[in-house]
Amino acid sequence: MKYIFILGQNAELSKAEIKALVHDFVIIDEGKDFLLGETAMHFEMGRLGGTIKIAELLDTEFVPDGMFSVSAYLPKNSKKTQKEFAKSMKEKAKAEGKKSRYFESRKSFTTAVEILKKNLIGREIILVQGKSLYKGKTIWVYDPFSFKLRDTGRPMQRPAQSMPISLAKIMVNLSGAEANDTVLDPFCGYGTIVQEVVAAGFNAVGSDIDGKAITAATENLRWFSEKFTPVGTWKLDISDSRELSEHFQPDSISAIITEPFLGPPLTGKETEEHLRSVFSDLSSLYTGFFSEANKILRLGGKIVITLPFFKGINTVAAPVTQKNMKLLESFTIDGKTRLTRILRVYQKV
Ligand SMILES: C[S@@+](CC[C@H](N)C(=O)[O-])C[C@H]1O[C@@H](n2cnc3c(N)ncnc32)[C@H](O)[C@@H]1O
Repeated sequence: MKYIFILGQNAELSKAEIKALVHDFVIIDEGKDFLLGETAMHFEMGRLGGTIKIAELLDTEFVPDGMFSVSAYLPKNSKKTQKEFAKSMKEKAKAEGKKSRYFESRKSFTTAVEILKKNLIGREIILVQGKSLYKGKTIWVYDPFSFKLRDTGRPMQRPAQSMPISLAKIMVNLSGAEANDTVLDPFCGYGTIVQEVVAAGFNAVGSDIDGKAITAATENLRWFSEKFTPVGTWKLDISDSRELSEHFQPDSISAIITEPFLGPPLTGKETEEHLRSVFSDLSSLYTGFFSEANKILRLGGKIVITLPFFKGINTVAAPVTQKNMKLLESFTIDGKTRLTRILRVYQKV
């Protein structure tokens, strides 16, 4: 089957996530906001965190019957093309004696909310421009209502240290975890990553140095389990990430996915000396964690981790890694805050 993926904000990261989840994916063409490819695999679209829409590539004409919409993701003239395409579709429907009704978004594309509210799955044509103009029929869209619920709907909140659900999902997919795997977040905080590991159907273990965080994460995970009845299991405990081997057996963990402590909030007015001192403390924390992670992670297991990049000193705080920890991939995530994160994927080889 050939699919067009409409990508989220960080297209490179979204593409990497798709390739990690859909193992046999063969890329046919790509653009700055789409990926076109083929797979024979059945994959769970709802697991994706970095894709907005998925469309089936159309090789035959689509004649609307009832409500329909058009989304144009083109380098230029998207609105104009959207209108013209909708007009021609209406004419085709009329010629075949079908009654069509065009839903036009204010933008040149329909949003996920519009698709869900207007029931447009299977009734929307998307247009993307690569080596040629491709047409697809939207078959899936991410659910912003569910994302919001599993984020701000949780009983325990800590906005200053929270991470987006979309990023947590992407990280789970980049870990390559599979059914029956045990996945650890050793800086689990209020449990966002643990939640998304459980949602994906894996067995999650979360630990944090702060007992209060573990109590809050427990409350959040209980809430999540009741609301979403996920397949995966979870277990939480207090532990220092620099002492993981005292809590976990050697080679017992299939993957580690984490957003660790990223340092105190930045005001942008810090001196270079201060930044260097924060950088040095964090690098030492991460090095301690990595050396322990190495002991408990199975061979071939991955570590997916975000690390802080300090613009002021143009440096990323990162662990000193051992020879058997290979850096596979690295992505820059520019958030709305002062902090730029670097997402890295390592593998124990
Ligand atoms: C950014 S938050 C984690 C967010 C979390 N990964 C999530 O999914 O929401 C960082 C957490 O690291 C914890 N922490 C700081 N130092 C630690 C250490 N040495 N060992 C374990 N946890 C630590 C803090 O208590 C805090 O809860």
